[in-house]
Amino acid sequence: MLTLPLLLSLLGTAANAAVTIYNVTASSSTSAVFTQPTGNSAYSPLILVAPNPPGGLQKDVPIVLQTTTPAGVSIGQKGSFLGFSVELSVADAVLGYNSTVLNPPFLNYLANIKERAGHGPTVRVGGNSQDESAMFPTTFTDAFGHQRMIQKWRVDNGNPTETPNINFAIDLFYTMGNISALVDADWYFGLAFDQPYNDSNAMLVARTAEETLGHHLIAMQLGNEPDLYAGHGRRTGEYGIPEYFTEYSHFLGDLQAQNLPEEKIILGPSVCCTWSTQQVLDAGYIQQYGNWLKVIGVMHYPANNCGISGVINPQDIFPNYLTHKSAQTFVQNYITTAPSVINAGLPFVVLETNTASCGGFPGLSDSFGAALWGIDSAFALAAMNFSQVLLHVGGQSTSYNPFTPPPTKMSKDHLWTTGAIYYSTLVVAEAFGKSNASQIIDLNLPSEFQPGYAIYENGVPTRVALINFVTDASGASDFNGVISFNGGTVPDHVSVRYLEAPSVSEKFNIKWAGQNMGSAIFTSDGRLTGDVQTIVIPCDQAANNCVVPVKAPSVALVFLSDDALSHSSPEDPASSLTFATSVFTARGQHPIIDPAVLKTMNGDGGVGPRHTGSTSKGQSAQLLGAAARSAAVPALVSVFALALGVMLVAGRG
Ligand SMILES: *[C@@H]1O[C@H](CO)[C@@H](O)[C@H](O)[C@H]1NC(C)=O
Ligand SMILES: *[C@@H]1O[C@H](CO)[C@@H](O)[C@H](O)[C@H]1NC(C)=O
Ligand SMILES: *[C@@H]1O[C@H](CO)[C@@H](O)[C@H](O)[C@H]1NC(C)=O
Ligand SMILES: *[C@@H]1O[C@H](CO)[C@@H](O)[C@H](O)[C@H]1NC(C)=O
Ligand SMILES: *[C@@H]1O[C@H](CO)[C@@H](O)[C@H](O)[C@H]1NC(C)=O
Repeated sequence: MLTLPLLLSLLGTAANAAVTIYNVTASSSTSAVFTQPTGNSAYSPLILVAPNPPGGLQKDVPIVLQTTTPAGVSIGQKGSFLGFSVELSVADAVLGYNSTVLNPPFLNYLANIKERAGHGPTVRVGGNSQDESAMFPTTFTDAFGHQRMIQKWRVDNGNPTETPNINFAIDLFYTMGNISALVDADWYFGLAFDQPYNDSNAMLVARTAEETLGHHLIAMQLGNEPDLYAGHGRRTGEYGIPEYFTEYSHFLGDLQAQNLPEEKIILGPSVCCTWSTQQVLDAGYIQQYGNWLKVIGVMHYPANNCGISGVINPQDIFPNYLTHKSAQTFVQNYITTAPSVINAGLPFVVLETNTASCGGFPGLSDSFGAALWGIDSAFALAAMNFSQVLLHVGGQSTSYNPFTPPPTKMSKDHLWTTGAIYYSTLVVAEAFGKSNASQIIDLNLPSEFQPGYAIYENGVPTRVALINFVTDASGASDFNGVISFNGGTVPDHVSVRYLEAPSVSEKFNIKWAGQNMGSAIFTSDGRLTGDVQTIVIPCDQAANNCVVPVKAPSVALVFLSDDALSHSSPEDPASSLTFATSVFTARGQHPIIDPAVLKTMNGDGGVGPRHTGSTSKGQSAQLLGAAARSAAVPALVSVFALALGVMLVAGRG
């Protein structure tokens, strides 16, 4: 079905990763040393070589801020700007086993953003696997007799991403609802569009999504990458925008007949590759479907690892990500489309992105360089008036995951793995903070290796973000951001938080404001460890400047007032909500969290156990003891001895 020229034209395809969540090759490790699961790209040991320093960099870089809102700043952005896109086929592995067995680490990864953004993060559930999905009222029994929310099988449909077909249980929506109740998450959900004239199941899904999630449902994505349908053999070769519109009209007519609580709830066209969003808009998409459209979404990856145009060596393309040019190229694709979407009164979102499609590149997508790329790209897209960007999460075989649950068979003994790019979401959340009114502008600094942005809120400059893409331990490539105010005087001090690592190729020795998310694979429960470090830098008010050093490599987030700092920070860290993960049921594979119990429980467990080193059965047992001791609600433990394995503890963020 698939012709070679067509395949070659799919360069940069946003097609998702191959999903092989159950192909666990490693056995449960009982030693203190991890067994490296072979073939699972989420745990690749590959370390790339950082590019050489470019030389000729300016040491002191002037940053002149206005004291009123400058021309060209973006729309107001939210702290939840950078969120997550979870492939439907791995939704159970990421979100939870079912609606009463949630994954505490996932809740923590989301809670970290909520604490900084002041409201819940955004998660999209969908992807290639959504189009051939169907909902069922009950769960599915797997080969081991377990009840599963998601059932998948492979069909050979010529799709290079090998996406499985998916059946999901209605319990998936209850799971999402229960996650929202705990961490205020908002959702996009993907509707199947594979058989637009057989859409009664999709209608049921739409109704269930609206009724279950209520205001936590932002929009439903109708069809995923329809521009690839013909290429992937899901439609005939003639399938183009007119045929797509015919199907769309039919589907939306059926949706209208449903009389759903919210009618204006559709996200589209979510094209990636062979059609541009502009072409779809030019064909009258918004005029025809404006009554239903709530959000315009695109899928975009800067490169692909699909192997369709030959194997790419990650080392060869690593430097492409370590320059502001990458973010600029990303946004330039939308230089005319973004204004036309926004002028039509609709938000424009990147529903799915990451370093590269088809799983990303080992060594690259899981590096500190990817985190820098994620931050620069998010800021550039925000400056371009996109209102949200979602980083894609695949399965065990993808390199770009912000977080990866342990392989199923290892879940009892191992914690999660934090991908370096997860740190981007923390930095972006703090850069925009809690006001929803953060307007960002690219400062157009002189070097492509050292870009910067300013953020204004309600007419006042509040934050500056400075990125240093260079790896250079000598100090020769460090620079100073010399901040001055045009039309005013700088404050007497600024506060700075740094995202730091020794090299752009580093994977785990990364700190945001002094805190870390796991020192190796399988060491994170989604909580930050260590003390928060905020550096106070005195300014020279007579000279009207504040000098902020930016090491190579790092990101400096400069808070221009104490208010700006507090509006980006977790509330009193002593009371921030985290979900402990180190207690497991006696019988089970799964850390269990019972939302009904959590809601009525006042967490008072003190500081939860810290995980820094290796995990083994022995240590798990110790942690279990420690957590049981620190759990302040022994009565509950006994009442829910079988059902409840994980306590909600109040610990330090
Ligand atoms: C979720 O799974 C647990 C453990 O298997 C089970 O006890 C519970 O009843 C399940 N919940 C739902 C809603 O199916
Ligand atoms: C939480 O899950 C239960 C089923 O286990 C469901 O009855 C309930 O509606 C869910 N809550 C939300 C807010 O979706
Ligand atoms: C229509 O879709 C349902 C699932 O949504 C599927 O079970 C059924 O086989 C489809 N009908 C046809 C004729 O393909
Ligand atoms: C973003 O929107 C603002 C406010 O509408 C506008 O002034 C600005 O020019 C837009 N930026 C871009 C890059 O289109
Ligand atoms: C910001 O927007 C979110 C919805 O995305 C909302 O929940 C929150 O209350 C808003 N915050 C402010 C300060 O307006």
